[in-house]
Amino acid sequence: MTNYSEYQQRREQLMAKIGNGTAIFRSAPMAVMHNDVEYAYRQDSDFFYLTGFNEPEAVAVIAPHHEEHKFILFVRPKDPEKETWSGYRTGVEAAKELYGADETFPINELNEKLPGYLKKADKIYYRLGRDRHFNDTILRHWQNLIRVYPKTGTGPIAIQDVGTVLHPMRLLKSTAELEQMRKAADIAVDAHNYAMKFAKAGQFEYQIQAEIEYIFSRNGATPAYPSIVASGANSCILHYIENNRQMQENDLLLIDAGAAYNYYNSDITRTFPISGKFTPEQKIIYELVLRAQQAAIAEVKPGNPYKQFHDTAVRVLVEGLIDLKLLKGNIDEIIEKEKYKHLYMHRTGHWLGLDVHDVGVYQWGENPQNLQPGQVLTVEPGIYIGPNIKPVEGQPEVDERWRGIGVRIEDDVLVTAEGNEVLTAGVPKLVEELED
Ligand code: GLY
Ligand code: MN
Ligand code: MN
Repeated sequence: MTNYSEYQQRREQLMAKIGNGTAIFRSAPMAVMHNDVEYAYRQDSDFFYLTGFNEPEAVAVIAPHHEEHKFILFVRPKDPEKETWSGYRTGVEAAKELYGADETFPINELNEKLPGYLKKADKIYYRLGRDRHFNDTILRHWQNLIRVYPKTGTGPIAIQDVGTVLHPMRLLKSTAELEQMRKAADIAVDAHNYAMKFAKAGQFEYQIQAEIEYIFSRNGATPAYPSIVASGANSCILHYIENNRQMQENDLLLIDAGAAYNYYNSDITRTFPISGKFTPEQKIIYELVLRAQQAAIAEVKPGNPYKQFHDTAVRVLVEGLIDLKLLKGNIDEIIEKEKYKHLYMHRTGHWLGLDVHDVGVYQWGENPQNLQPGQVLTVEPGIYIGPNIKPVEGQPEVDERWRGIGVRIEDDVLVTAEGNEVLTAGVPKLVEELED
């Protein structure tokens, strides 16, 4: 748990933004794997960010205008019998003490107590979630207050997505958060470096996955997302997670694996020849993607519009692909009309934090989101020449020798006052580092 005052500071920052509103957060639901077997519980990121509380069936209310209680937690009561089956519960009394709530209640009193925290609020801040039943609960409370509004003249007159106020906060990582993110990055760096040594012809992809996840586990981390270990033509499938192919001598291996540590994530991709030697075509494509990634990372600095690093990567890639005769025509037109999309079909990055694809706006309508120190994003250009690739209209047929080559290189980059810091620089990516 990050220290106690950090969560308090976050709640205070949120309170300053919502003034007379009341914000409501619902814990993540318990996920069922099959029948009554449950996945490990993972708290909702917004909920965790504000409370540090890691149990299901909980609701957090933030009501800065309330005379007595500004932070209220509804939690599961202690229940020795249930705890024997499904684990420890903090309980109502201890939650108050441990999580710094002004008041705590058993979750089954939510409907009774919630109106007291809403009736003087001018707005409800709530993010409509996947739990329709809970969405309905909130709407029903709101409806009840609207009904009496003519008599009271107070109460919420609107619901606003709480993400609009909370997510800009989550986008800027605090020192404590960066500590966790560095740890998540370091663990993934170690895992990639360790696993690379095991990649050989005859091995199955899942064996490499096992080596990566072994290092995660040894360090108290879990996969941040299903690890992608994609050899040969599988490297052209963006979300390949079967990981069951036996590797062959001249394969490239694309590993996209990140660690989740104390709720924070890393996200790294490396692509390398398992034989220790690129084929000429693999090397050409690899060097092009690397050039695009390096040029894109150089654009990660305060004040630059978010999209600039993507635009830079695309320009480098398209220019290179024209030189290789894998694309033809005017570079600006290819970019504008996205005629490169059969070879590079995804964006060059995303915000990273409590979620792998973290919250935060990328672009304000027509206006850019300019990068600021404390933001963390991935930079992950690629080229994917599927074995059965079809060119887009007006573009060249792809020669057989290029087919089946997929390359992505992904690093996690922190925006700093001076420029940036690559948190995952410890995994080699230069050609001479990847070749024997
Ligand atoms: N591994 C997920 C991503 O790169 O976005
Ligand atoms: Mn990513
Ligand atoms: Mn990734």
